[in-house]
Parts: sequence; structure tokens; C-alpha cells
Amino acid sequence: MSEVTETGVPGDLARHPRTPESDTPVLEVDDLVVEHRDGGTGTLFRAVDQVSLRIAAGESVAVVGESGSGKTTLAMAATGLGPRGRGDIRLLGHSLSAVSRTQLRRLRPEVQVVFQDPHGSLDPRQSVRSGLRELRALQPERTSWIDDADLLGRVRLAPDLLDRYPHQLSGGQAQRVCIARALLMRPRLIVADEPTSGLDVSVQADVLALLRQIRATTGAALLMISHDLAVVRSLCDVVHVMYRGRVVEAGPCDRVFGTPENDYTRELLAAMPGARWRSRR
Ligand SMILES: Nc1ncnc2c1ncn2[C@@H]1O[C@H](COP(=O)(O)OP(=O)(O)OP(=O)(O)O)[C@@H](O)[C@H]1O
Ligand SMILES: [Mg+2]
Repeated sequence: MSEVTETGVPGDLARHPRTPESDTPVLEVDDLVVEHRDGGTGTLFRAVDQVSLRIAAGESVAVVGESGSGKTTLAMAATGLGPRGRGDIRLLGHSLSAVSRTQLRRLRPEVQVVFQDPHGSLDPRQSVRSGLRELRALQPERTSWIDDADLLGRVRLAPDLLDRYPHQLSGGQAQRVCIARALLMRPRLIVADEPTSGLDVSVQADVLALLRQIRATTGAALLMISHDLAVVRSLCDVVHVMYRGRVVEAGPCDRVFGTPENDYTRELLAAMPGARWRSRR
């Protein structure tokens, strides 16, 4: 781990100034329905079925559920990055169905997504430095708060990684680069879709600690999608449990994990990694 600098806790340069917008939920989703076409039968089905959720500024919300329950479809629709479907989605109070292109361009950087496969998210033809340069060219004012070397320090990577290409990075390093790219935009919401499940177990904890630290130092809200309840519990305030496109139970993590009300939640808890913590309490 020679690339990891020992600079300790990053400062709070990236913290958002308090503005009237700080009290507006970063994300509100009402009755969202997203349909996909079944590859086999060709019929439409509801991958997300009447889902509502709300993420307050700085809040950390998890979505859990078995594979295929609609978590990624929900996250992509809710952030305007995937098929939007029906229902109302408001980012920082702006309804996605009513914003102009210019407003949407301004809103986009407020939400940054960290995906499961970091190598798949990075352009293999670009060094870390040229990838950052491209982002800076898109949003010069927004990204001027930090230089490349300091940015890498924020994700505990040494500056010599700037000249590497994605294939020269380990999975953990590549995911840190993805997180750095997200951080550069000073987002109000970070969406992390299984951000550690493609990584070696030995680096999963580091990446989670980093996300936790970023939350604490930047005040960004987090929408965390995970199969791992221990991860959710360590990072999130609120959890939504999805089953076949629907949210079957939602509430504070301690309540939902401690005294689940829904049969499916109970089954899921019993089957999921990290569920053992319950029996230890
Ligand atoms: N582009 C698509 N076209 C057709 N069907 C899709 C598409 N994307 C997802 N689906 C289907 O929609 C359902 C929900 O998929 P989604 O990827 O949202 O699930 P998920 O909860 O994120 O699963 P996982 O935990 O495996 O990532 C699944 O049945 C999936 O096969
Ligand atoms: Mg998914």
C-alpha cells in the first residue's frame, strides 16, 4: 500500500457552504414506475413499481434487495441517468420533468455515481490525469477548488498515480480514482451502486472508510446500494428494502434491521451477508 499517503483526515475544503438550498431534500422520488421489456417474452414489466423515497441534505440512505429487485434501475432513474419512467423526481427541489436543458446541465454535477466495476467506469485510453483534465474542462469553475495531487490525497492515493492508465491500477486504486472524480465535482449526492462488491475483501473496508470520511467532511448525501447489511448499517441512516420492484419496508436502519415488520425483510436479513450482527446484539 505504498500509494497510500499518511496525511490523515482530509480537511473540509469540499464542505458545502450553508445556503437556503441546504434545507431542500437533495432527492425526492414520488410514485416512480420504470418499465423494462423482458428479453424473453418481449412484454413490459415494472422493474420499479411505485417507489417513493426522499434523501435530505447530508443524509445517507440505503437501498437493499435481492439481485434483480430493481435497485440499479431505481438509482439510475432517480438521478436522471437512466430511463426516467413515470412519477415525479426532484433533484434539489427541481422536477426533472420540468427543468430546462440548461438547468439540467447545472444539476447534473450535483449527483455523482460510483459504480461497482471501477475499471469499467474509467476510459482505458486515458491516464488518471487526462481523465481529470477532461472533467475540469467540462466544469472549470466547479472543479477549481482543488488541484490533482491534493484531490488524490483526499482519496489517499499518491500523486504519482496521476500518470497511470486504468489497467495499471489495482481494483481498490481504480475505485479510489472513481471516488476522486466524483469528489472533484463537489456533489450534493453521491450514489454508490455496490461500490465494493467487485473489490478484493482486503480493500473493501478501506473504500468504505473513505466513503464514510467523505460523507463526514463534505456533507454530501449518500444513496448506497448494497447487498451487505454490515456495510449499510455502518454507513446509512435509513434503509429501503426492495422486492420485485417495490419498496416493501423502509425506515431507520436500527428499526428495520432490529425489528423488521415485513416477512420478506426478515427473509432477506437472514440470507444477507452482515445479517449476523443482529444475533450479536
Ligand atoms: N436495460 C434493461 N432492459 C431490460 N431489462 C432490464 C434492463 N435493466 C435491468 N433489467 C431488468 O430489470 C430488473 C431489475 O434490474 P436491476 O438491474 O435494477 O436490479 P438490481 O436490483 O440492481 O440487481 P443486482 O443486485 O443484480 O444489481 C431485472 O429483472 C433486470 O433483468
Ligand atoms: Mg444493480
